[in-house]
Amino acid sequence: MGLNDQWMQRDLAVLWHPCTQMKDHERLPLVPIRAASGVWLEDFEGKRYLDAVSSWWVNVFGHANPRIGARVKAQLDQLEHVMLAGFTHPPVIELSERLVAITPDGLSKVFYADNGSSGIEVALKMSHHYWINSGQPGKKRFVTLTNSYHGETVAAMSVGDVALFTDTYKALLLDSLKVPSPDCYLRPDGASWEEHSRAMFAHMERTLEQHAHEVAAVIVEPLIQGAGGMRMYHPVYLKLLREACDRHGVHLIHDEIAVGFGRTGTMFACEQAGITPDFLVLSKALTGGYLPMAAVLTTEDVYAAFYDDYATLRAFLHSHTYTGNPLACAAALATLDIFEEDQVIEANRALAAHMARATEHLKAHPHVAEVRQTGMALAIEMVADKASRTPYPWQERRGLRVYQHALERGALLRPLGNVVYFLPPYVITPEQIDFLAEVASEGIDLATREALSVPVSGPYPEHRDPG
Ligand SMILES: Cc1ncc(COP(=O)(O)O)c(C=O)c1O
Repeated sequence: MGLNDQWMQRDLAVLWHPCTQMKDHERLPLVPIRAASGVWLEDFEGKRYLDAVSSWWVNVFGHANPRIGARVKAQLDQLEHVMLAGFTHPPVIELSERLVAITPDGLSKVFYADNGSSGIEVALKMSHHYWINSGQPGKKRFVTLTNSYHGETVAAMSVGDVALFTDTYKALLLDSLKVPSPDCYLRPDGASWEEHSRAMFAHMERTLEQHAHEVAAVIVEPLIQGAGGMRMYHPVYLKLLREACDRHGVHLIHDEIAVGFGRTGTMFACEQAGITPDFLVLSKALTGGYLPMAAVLTTEDVYAAFYDDYATLRAFLHSHTYTGNPLACAAALATLDIFEEDQVIEANRALAAHMARATEHLKAHPHVAEVRQTGMALAIEMVADKASRTPYPWQERRGLRVYQHALERGALLRPLGNVVYFLPPYVITPEQIDFLAEVASEGIDLATREALSVPVSGPYPEHRDPG
């Protein structure tokens, strides 16, 4: 038995993996990783895989990045952890100062959690609690877009709308209001992204008109609905939403967990709409993919609604054990240094243009309905019928075929259902982008040429993966 197989056997004896039907591993090998460097992961038999999805969208400056590593190692010898209630430390203070400085004006206070879903829970609770403290306890519902994804904890699932993740748990979820997404894949023939996004806003306006009195906040994934299949929309929607939230007295929560830190072409997606949300939730690339951490930024107005004598019981008594962990802060500070020193946002423009050129030919593929892109995120939508955009039945798992082919060729591409996408580390080279485009093209050819049997049936419309 080879080394990869040995590790796989030991793993399967004791581990239960995320977002996985474990029975799949009867025929689909696990990939044990021995080490990683830059864009490459390496298994125990020396095979390398180009990490085209930044390991679930976190690893923006490559694996084993010496600059991030050095800062974390130095922090390790200085202070590994201290609880953040009653205590503080320089890395968390410096990180908070820098986050306030680089995010849109008006966001001035930072609260930490230790993963994206927990960050969403913080924003939802804080928003509702703000309304309680402001004498409007009836504002307790949340408005979300169809096809949204905000994480896996119960309240985060409640504002999500990807059936695969939420339907089973329906009985446990909060009653959120779902508004049709401005998803531009669904725009009518001839309409631009901007026209479609603007037109779709009418649904949001109507919902707010009817329900603002009972709504605490609207939550959105700005510009890209990630786990929902990398569906994209125009920034005008965010601008209209900000205006409407102000008009109706409702908070706006931007979940930039996936899109923050340069993914959409600007440091934060909200910059493209020129707006400031009431809550900005960050995670994933915040630490360069080194350590779990989330930051929730909010305004003086929100902060002030909680600031009072203890006995009024207006304080936000939410806590996660690892809040503001110094090692995670050190990784985040090193990540922010790289953004600044290497002028990453500017450098990414050329890489994004290269991704577009390298995949241009796929637009003509008989089973590709759309190649879409926002900044450093590019998605290719495979369909059974191009003219009618009929999707492949989810049971056929065409994306899995692309995944398997990519592994054979030395790339980690993990499609979302029928959507093959690239969310590469920003240290990728043009040649490596060409390689990914070649592997993806071959994989799409294979996956769409083969008549696949339907292995399982179930209640879900599509197989998706949260990233
Ligand atoms: C937009 C968005 N929100 C929230 C989350 C949840 O983050 P975490 O997996 O760290 O809980 C994700 C994860 O993919 C995400 O893409």
